[in-house]
Amino acid sequence: MNEDIFSQVDHYISDLLAPEDKALTDTIQSIHNENMPQISVSANHGKFLQVLMRSCKAKRVLELGTLAGYSTIWMARALPEDGKLITLEVDKHHAEVARKNIENAGLSKKVEIRIGKAIELLPDLIAQTKQPFDFIFIDADKPPYAAYFDYALKLSKPGTLIVCDNVIREGKVLDRNTTDEKVKGVQKLNESLRDNKSVTATILQTVGAKEHDGMVIALVNNID
Ligand code: SAH
Ligand code: DHB
Ligand code: MG
Repeated sequence: MNEDIFSQVDHYISDLLAPEDKALTDTIQSIHNENMPQISVSANHGKFLQVLMRSCKAKRVLELGTLAGYSTIWMARALPEDGKLITLEVDKHHAEVARKNIENAGLSKKVEIRIGKAIELLPDLIAQTKQPFDFIFIDADKPPYAAYFDYALKLSKPGTLIVCDNVIREGKVLDRNTTDEKVKGVQKLNESLRDNKSVTATILQTVGAKEHDGMVIALVNNID
């Protein structure tokens, strides 16, 4: 087993079950053209988010970390006609690139991009939100992941699914003495889940075209 086989199998699966259309390939191209980091979810993970959204009949979705809107487009496509997705992005340039990609995908009506630091936007969102979210995807900066998860719980109801990207980081989470703030951030979240009675949670380890990583999948039971 090596990375090459993981990548080849990833493409085998995405060719079968998660082919990208032009709006998605244009989005990947825009990341390249605009010198942004190629850290979008993979096509298979985009499809996986759709499966999870459909399984909880998600109508209201929140995303932290938009980048160019690649994951946003996958998720918005799994919304019903009257569904809505709010995505938070700190970088104005990323938000502008995403706005164009979302428009190009014909999804502007369903998607609202809010520009600012997630940690500052989330309290406003809590104050404004009358209806909780059905599905929350956390994929912004890693150091505050545990705080983001607590905010996500405040925006949830029993049955809400919370998914957090990049919580294994090529196994670097095993290093208890790490000084990497990204790794420390996800370690703090992962460890907090052990005693969190509000959720039924697991971490799905992932390999594929992207680096070895993992996603938290947490189903909200009840909120204290
Ligand atoms: N979800 C995207 C990838 C997101 S990459 C996809 O899969 O297609 C992470 C994004 O989070 C970057 O665009 C980065 O600018 C943004 N980000 C970083 N720190 C942030 C913060 N404090 N608040 C909101 N967004 C942030
Ligand atoms: C990084 C962030 C991501 O959201 C991702 O999917 C991969 C890497 C990063 O900041 O290193
Ligand atoms: Mg990510």
